[in-house]
Amino acid sequence: TNPELQNVLEAHNWLTKLYHHLLRHTKEGKDGYELLLKRGVTEEIIDTFQLGFAPNSNDFTKKFLENKGFHPQSMVKGGLLSYSENGLYHDRFRGRVIFPIRNHQGKTVAFAGRSINGKDPKYLNSPETDLFQKGKLLYNFDLARSEIRKLGEVVLFEGQMDVIAAYQAGIKHGIATLGTAITDNQAKLIRRYVERVIICYDSDDAGIEASFKASQLLKKSGCEVRVASMKDGLDPDDYIRTYSGEAFRKEVLDASATYMGFIMQYFKRGYNLNNEGDQLAYIEKVLDEISKMDKPLEREFYIKELATEHDLSYESLEKEIIDRRKKQG
Ligand code: GTP
Ligand code: MN
Ligand code: MN
Ligand code: MN
Ligand code: MN
Repeated sequence: TNPELQNVLEAHNWLTKLYHHLLRHTKEGKDGYELLLKRGVTEEIIDTFQLGFAPNSNDFTKKFLENKGFHPQSMVKGGLLSYSENGLYHDRFRGRVIFPIRNHQGKTVAFAGRSINGKDPKYLNSPETDLFQKGKLLYNFDLARSEIRKLGEVVLFEGQMDVIAAYQAGIKHGIATLGTAITDNQAKLIRRYVERVIICYDSDDAGIEASFKASQLLKKSGCEVRVASMKDGLDPDDYIRTYSGEAFRKEVLDASATYMGFIMQYFKRGYNLNNEGDQLAYIEKVLDEISKMDKPLEREFYIKELATEHDLSYESLEKEIIDRRKKQG
């Protein structure tokens, strides 16, 4: 393989070990270690995910890499060092808890660094490099792969902390996109492995909007989509810590909504169903969705539900569906 990529890969490997060691065994890493313990992360999980700490220094990583014989220039290209206008190289990750981002073969190709003192940005990620293309990578796919196959299901989270908290609770088929919307590429990759996807994003406004977008894309890619939600706008990590892994499994994953169930809830958010115009617009939207369903049985099921919900006749709604399906060809 390409020696330049190999070189950057090696540097990531060294730094994964170094940052992990600092977190686990040194005074420099104590703040990071305590943040993780405070959040209920066990030592075993810290090891499994090789979590680490990058010291709050301008040149700690730089010196380490230089001593190992890596060229600063290529380390900048690999996203591990930064280059300032005054012509000096310096550490990119400073005073942050480090989450190694592993590719699908389990090799570290990037880092996400979480601030420990409320400093912005909350997460600093590696830039896109030849090794690391965010839109193609699913976080934790390497560890989750066998469980995904076994269960025929994958849980899609928003953040790496959610993946880790779920994993610690024994839910090991979780993956995440890295703080960005899921791409077509990622959706297709998921579909190649598995049909059923449970979208389990944060239950705040941003998370619900993102769930809708992800549901559309995953559905289009041929997945059977379910969408989970949590009370009080919690995220999965919060939920597991507040209630328990068992509660998360039963009340969130097992209770996740079907695609149509979610869509109907989602469309209702935008409308005031006491208003006639809004009610009609809502019904039109749901009819559009029902008309896209392949299975006659499913169509019948939701036509009935909609008819009951709005006190309409089954026949008139069915006619609407038939018209729409004719237009779709
Ligand atoms: P915690 O506060 O540590 O629990 O993080 P979180 O995972 O709950 O974060 P949040 O829900 O705010 O964001 C979800 C994901 O988006 C994170 O895991 C990150 O991958 C990403 N993200 C969040 N904030 C930032 C940011 O400031 N910059 C970047 N690049 N990504 C972010
Ligand atoms: Mn270790
Ligand atoms: Mn969020
Ligand atoms: Mn969150
Ligand atoms: Mn969180």
